[in-house]
Amino acid sequence: MTDPQVTGLRSIEYNVPDLAKTSRFYELCWGLKKVAEDDGAHYFRATGAEHHIVVLHEGGKASVNRINFAADDNNAVDALHAKLSGLGISTDSTPEDLSGPGGGYGFSFTDRDGLGYAVSSGVTTHSDTAMENDRPFKLSHVVLNSDKVEDQTDFYRDVLGFRVSDRTERMNFIRCSPDHHSIAFAHAEGPSLNHAAFEVPDFDALMTGSGRMKQKGFPVQWGVGRHGPGNNVFGYFFEPNGMVVEYTAEVEQVDEDAYVTGTPEDWAQRVQGPDRWGFADPPTPHLRRCMGGDPQAPEVDIF
Ligand SMILES: [Fe+2]
Repeated sequence: MTDPQVTGLRSIEYNVPDLAKTSRFYELCWGLKKVAEDDGAHYFRATGAEHHIVVLHEGGKASVNRINFAADDNNAVDALHAKLSGLGISTDSTPEDLSGPGGGYGFSFTDRDGLGYAVSSGVTTHSDTAMENDRPFKLSHVVLNSDKVEDQTDFYRDVLGFRVSDRTERMNFIRCSPDHHSIAFAHAEGPSLNHAAFEVPDFDALMTGSGRMKQKGFPVQWGVGRHGPGNNVFGYFFEPNGMVVEYTAEVEQVDEDAYVTGTPEDWAQRVQGPDRWGFADPPTPHLRRCMGGDPQAPEVDIF
């Protein structure tokens, strides 16, 4: 049997101090739809097949609660759990049928930076998928801050089956599917959430969604631009608690047999700065602080 591996990014779960307000943001501004409520948590879907891509848990400081990955089937879930256990990595549960919205079969664990994850298979999918011109269709990637970027990269590669797409001076980009990156680790003083990105159908959809955000009181904070690694178009925003969310489009699709992992030296020569176009102004100090893992709620009152 080939090494078991994670094959997709399903969803991100957040702790938020005001569940009702943050829920309204994701529905009215960001373009998701609530599909379930369960025990103090709200679940939101995009227009794609994944049952939900965002979960909001009421209470506590704004922060990432858990990241959920996909495996191909129950055997892969079992094999990943056995691999983690064999390496002495504590898992919070043995694989089991999941009782929450979407169901499925999976287990959860905590990584060396203390962040919670779950791996699952067989989660209910939606059949009424669509590509809409102003709404995300999937969770694209999550960027995590860490003071142990190479250690985290090794863990994701060697244990969960990720491949390294690129390294830059600031980040390591890793993939578990044809998407150039589903996770990236940014060099920082310690572990925290940098941002989460949601993919929209194309550049026009990114601009249309960004326009809606502006009209709702959440103007773009960085962008619009096109990143170097991943070649994706980007626009960064605050959600109501100061955590950073990104609309992205045109994410590079990797050919596993041909892709050559880029080095910091390669990227320093290929692209000047984080925007290929040279159009986007640098991130504001407020945005940098929030991306550094210290969310500061923006001054906006639209509800
Ligand atoms: Fe991003």
